[in-house]
Amino acid sequence: MRYLKKRLLVTGGAGFMGSAFIRLLLKDSLCERVVNLDLLTYAGNPANLEAYADDARYLLVQGDIRDEKLVEKICREEEIDTIVHFAAETHVDRSIAGPHAFLETNVCGTFALLQVVRKIPHLHFHQISTDEVFGSLGETGIFTEESPYLPNSPYAASKAAADHFVLSFAHTYGLSVTLSHSSNNYGPHQYPEKFVPRMINACLTMQPLPLYGTGENVRDWLFVEDHAEAVWKILNDGKIGEMYNIGGSCEKKNFDMLHLIIDEVARQCEENPETLRQLITFVEDRPGHDFRYGLDCSKIRRELGWSPRHTLAEGLKKTVSYYLICPSSV
Ligand SMILES: NC(=O)c1ccc[n+]([C@@H]2O[C@H](COP(=O)([O-])OP(=O)(O)OC[C@H]3O[C@@H](n4cnc5c(N)ncnc54)[C@H](O)[C@@H]3O)[C@@H](O)[C@H]2O)c1
Repeated sequence: MRYLKKRLLVTGGAGFMGSAFIRLLLKDSLCERVVNLDLLTYAGNPANLEAYADDARYLLVQGDIRDEKLVEKICREEEIDTIVHFAAETHVDRSIAGPHAFLETNVCGTFALLQVVRKIPHLHFHQISTDEVFGSLGETGIFTEESPYLPNSPYAASKAAADHFVLSFAHTYGLSVTLSHSSNNYGPHQYPEKFVPRMINACLTMQPLPLYGTGENVRDWLFVEDHAEAVWKILNDGKIGEMYNIGGSCEKKNFDMLHLIIDEVARQCEENPETLRQLITFVEDRPGHDFRYGLDCSKIRRELGWSPRHTLAEGLKKTVSYYLICPSSV
């Protein structure tokens, strides 16, 4: 067990995956204090944690991860022992339209956090990364933790650069770090520009369902609560300095994933799925669109005993029912 005090600083905790992680910490009383440092950009929403807004164990600080002084002040005053770093610019399409913010937040922001960890060396730092740093696969093959970094989009390049800073700081300055690469997460509270909520909301409002190219691109899908549990496992039982892949072992073509979403929405809304299928529209492909990501997760299964608890059907059921109650659009 790594933790005695369990006082965590979570960056980007008002976003989709960070808020799921904080909900897990508070719901299961896993920590005594969690400070959420979030700039509250367009993607951050304090309402994602409104159930815990008045919880004495929880504090939201609106601020920038690039603000070293602020980060150091929080870490010292709150006697933080662990930083779990979720904060990022995360949308690939936005990184193509305007990459600079990705350099600033994902690279400079991570760098600033690491500079603070250098000053407070008892801090453990966990980096949340993505399968996208490994580039694109063909029909076969799978990414292991040893796969080379070959990022293609500006988003992936910024995450890869951040990961390299994390690992280099661990190597050079002896920082205590762990790192995880996760596949596509889906679930409640995701900003509606992303594939799953976008398609669910479009089904609910009978809007076009846009699929890039021919819809053949393949992604691995992981329910966000399963990701949160994996990160907690790594913090407690992972080996310092190691990387872990976290995936759902559930690869789907975008086209097939959309049909599953349609079927679930139709089931819950008592709608004819064929009516929704008629809304599918093929649009011009994303420039440089990675064909396939796939993660070998045998390391985390074997060494830490983690595996996802939700099947895709169970995860989609929970996700669709959330968006039925809380519909949103971009
Ligand atoms: N969503 C996925 O499928 C996925 C998959 C693999 C890895 N990841 C990684 O997981 C992490 C979280 O992703 P997400 O989907 O929850 O993202 P998100 O876009 O939902 O949330 C990002 C959060 O970071 C905050 N933020 C942005 N810039 C900040 C700054 N300068 N200072 C402080 N806070 C800032 C935003 O306000 C927001 O709350 C990211 O690092 C992302 O690269 C995401």
